[in-house]
Amino acid sequence: MGRLLKGGQVVNPVTGSIASLDVLLEGNMVAAMGADLAHTDHEVIEVTGQYVLPGLIDPHVHLREPGQTHKETIATGTMAAAAGGFTQICCMPNTAPVTDEEQTVRYIREEAQRCGYATVHPIAAITTGLRGTELTDFAALRRAGAVGFSDDGRGVQSAAVMRQALLTAKALAAPIVVHAEDETLSAGGCVHAGEAAQRLGLRGIPSSAETVMIARDIILAEETGAHVHMCHVSPEEAVAAIRAGQGRGVRVTAEVTPHHLLLTDAELETWGALAKVNPPLRAERDRQACIRGLLDGTLSMIATDHAPHTEQDKARGIADAPFGFVGLETSFPLLFTAFVASGVMPLAELVRLMSTEPARVFGLRGGQIRVGEWADITVIDPRQTRVVNPAEFRSKGRNTPFAGRVLAGWPTLTIHAGRTVFAS
Ligand code: DOR
Repeated sequence: MGRLLKGGQVVNPVTGSIASLDVLLEGNMVAAMGADLAHTDHEVIEVTGQYVLPGLIDPHVHLREPGQTHKETIATGTMAAAAGGFTQICCMPNTAPVTDEEQTVRYIREEAQRCGYATVHPIAAITTGLRGTELTDFAALRRAGAVGFSDDGRGVQSAAVMRQALLTAKALAAPIVVHAEDETLSAGGCVHAGEAAQRLGLRGIPSSAETVMIARDIILAEETGAHVHMCHVSPEEAVAAIRAGQGRGVRVTAEVTPHHLLLTDAELETWGALAKVNPPLRAERDRQACIRGLLDGTLSMIATDHAPHTEQDKARGIADAPFGFVGLETSFPLLFTAFVASGVMPLAELVRLMSTEPARVFGLRGGQIRVGEWADITVIDPRQTRVVNPAEFRSKGRNTPFAGRVLAGWPTLTIHAGRTVFAS
C-alpha cells in the first residue's frame, strides 16, 4: 500500500513554481505526482492548505557525538533535524575524538542510519586533532563517506597548510569548508568588537579576524583552482570579498546562518551568553550586508550552525561560556516568518537556499521532489503560528536567543526515505 499526500501545494525550487499536486509514496520512493491522483488502495495523508517541500538540508551541524553526548547525540540531533524539517545534514568534525579517522566517519554514518531520522554526511577534519599542522588522510576519509573537509570551530592558521589542503581536496573533488578566523586577531575575544562590547567591557573580535582569512582562502582557491566553501559568513567586508572572488570566477561558495541574518550584537544586553556565538553577532550594517548577499546569490545557502551546549555551560557568563546556538528546530519558521511571510522572498527561493543548493554544492541527492527518487519530504503549515519554546526541543541543547518569538511556517510532517520521522 502506498501513501498519498493529498491536496498540498508542491514547491519546486528548481523552476520556482508551486502547484496543487498529490504525491504518491511507495516504499522509500516517490512513485507518482499529479493533480487528483486516485486514492483507492492508498493510505491518504490530508495536507490541504499546506506546502509540500523537498526535505531540507543543513550543511553545518554539530552533533557532539562521539565525545560530548551530554550536549547532544546522533539520535537527539537527528530527531531535532526531523522536527525542523531536515532530512539530510552535514556534521562538523570538532567531536572527541576529532573526526579525523575513517572509523569515526563510518561510526557517525552508521549510527545515524540506525537511528533513521535523517541522513548524516560527515565533514572530516582538515588537520589531525584540529591542530592545524598535519593533514588528515583525505582519500581514506572521502572513501569512508566524508563530503568535505573542515577544521570548523577553529581556523587553519597556516596558509601553507590550507594551500596543501586545497590541492588535496581538489584531486578528490571535495570542497574545503572554511571556518575563517585568524587567531592573532580574534585573540581570545568573546563578542563582536563593537558598541555592545564597549558598553559591557568585553574583549572584542574584530570583523577583520574573519575577513582576512576569507580573503586569503579565496586567493588560495584562485591559485589552486580548488573549491572553497565559506562557513557562517558575518561581516560586510567578507560578503564583498566573496562577491568579488565569484566575479573573477573563483570556485567560492558561502553559507549564512539565520542568526547572522536576523540578530545583531545588541542582543548581548538582553540575552547575555545566550547571544554568544562564533563568528559573533555583528553590527546592523553587517546584518544588512548578509541579507543583500543572500538576495543577490553571493551567499547561496542557509546553515544553522546548530551548536548545542548545556545550561550550566551557558550560565558561566559572556566571557567564559562556550560559543554557539541550537538552530535545527527553529531555522525554517524563523526565515519563513522573516522573509517569506513578509514578502522579501518567494517560498520556492527559501527552499532552494535550504535544500537544492546545499545538495548541489555538497554533491548530495535531493533538493527537489521527483518521481523515482528518494521520498524525503517536508510539509509546512503557513498558517500555524507557535511560540519558540526551548523546553519542547528534541535537541538536548536549549541555547537559543530566539526563545519566545512567535513564528509561522512550522513543519507538520517530515518524511525520510518514505518513513514518517516527525509529525506534529
Ligand atoms: O558558535 C560556534 N559554536 N561556532 C563554532 O565555530 C563552533 C561551535 C561549537 O562547536 O560549539
